[in-house]
Amino acid sequence: MSDSKNRYNNPFSATIKGISDLFKKNERIGKLSEDERLDGKRVLITGSSSGLGLAAAKELARLGAEVIMAARSGIPGTGEDVKAASGNQNIYMLFVDLSDFETIGKLITKVKETFGKIDILICNAAIVSRKARLTKYGLEEMFSVNFLAKFILVNLALKEKLFRTDDGAVPRIIFVSSESHRNPESFEWETFGEFREYGMGKSVERYGYYKLLMTTFARELSRRLNPGERVNYSVFAHCPGPVNSNIAREAPKIFRPMVKVVFGIFFRSPETACEPLVFQAAAKQQEGLRWDYMFLMSRKQIDDKASDPENGRMLWEKTERLLTENSISF
Ligand SMILES: NC(=O)c1ccc[n+]([C@@H]2O[C@H](COP(=O)([O-])OP(=O)(O)OC[C@H]3O[C@@H](n4cnc5c(N)ncnc54)[C@H](OP(=O)(O)O)[C@@H]3O)[C@@H](O)[C@H]2O)c1
Repeated sequence: MSDSKNRYNNPFSATIKGISDLFKKNERIGKLSEDERLDGKRVLITGSSSGLGLAAAKELARLGAEVIMAARSGIPGTGEDVKAASGNQNIYMLFVDLSDFETIGKLITKVKETFGKIDILICNAAIVSRKARLTKYGLEEMFSVNFLAKFILVNLALKEKLFRTDDGAVPRIIFVSSESHRNPESFEWETFGEFREYGMGKSVERYGYYKLLMTTFARELSRRLNPGERVNYSVFAHCPGPVNSNIAREAPKIFRPMVKVVFGIFFRSPETACEPLVFQAAAKQQEGLRWDYMFLMSRKQIDDKASDPENGRMLWEKTERLLTENSISF
């Protein structure tokens, strides 16, 4: 049994596992140097109204990128915060609700019509739901936001030829994952996409399962986009480690003061925790890589289940079928 198995089964064990991972010796693969900038690059980042995504938007802006912040809330205030913090005025905010897939299509159209091509796409938004919730599509919300929305967003962006590919640089698609993707024992192929009830006690377990789906998708995406020798797209994923963000916003009221204290003491600030994300977006040493997974600032293999091409193929087919059956465009 691997180190991470069954450590993310509930909020308490996940918190302890996250903190203990921080104290392990991890070999650093590098650090951005002063000349590794993003001037002239256009970045689209989801979940940029809060936590890791907001801190990353500020840092990407400080490095000179034009940042399109796709957000469900905080428009335009958080965009103004990013401008003020970075001194970069090329910051824009567009609405998207990742549980409402029509808004993803609208987002892609708006980006294409208003801005044109993008160089980097960062799929960062995610939730830890207190309980299973149905979306208007009859699908579970955390499954939709944490996995399905990413499949739709990336595929629509590719279909609309949203990535700049004519300047010699390889576009980068980055997924914010979690070490909790290692927790599930297996895929639930038989019941894939079916709504299933869960409560607070199982929410972290479900979160880990959806991170497994997302990480398997990311790995399969890299294979499909780069079938030959040539690298057409860099697909990266990483776990930022425990972040003192708003991720536990749905924790029961009684636990919130404790969560605040534990997060405040042991978890890393979003500004510190966004280093792997910014590194994968901007580092020269990432250029031309077809795939990469980082945990904090170290390179790591993803879980065997997520890297297995057969699982990647199965996930892709099942997801396409689910979306088609539900008349959802992707
Ligand atoms: N915090 C941790 O310890 C930790 C550890 C490992 C990985 N991560 C990953 O880090 C990423 C960022 O999370 P965070 O910790 O920064 O949490 P956060 O502060 O709660 O930020 C989550 C972001 O996702 C957005 N979001 C949620 N549901 C959405 C929806 N339906 N449509 C559009 N946007 C939506 C939120 O927007 P609103 O503000 O509008 O809700 C917010 O901007 C996630 O992928 C998470 O899984 C976090």
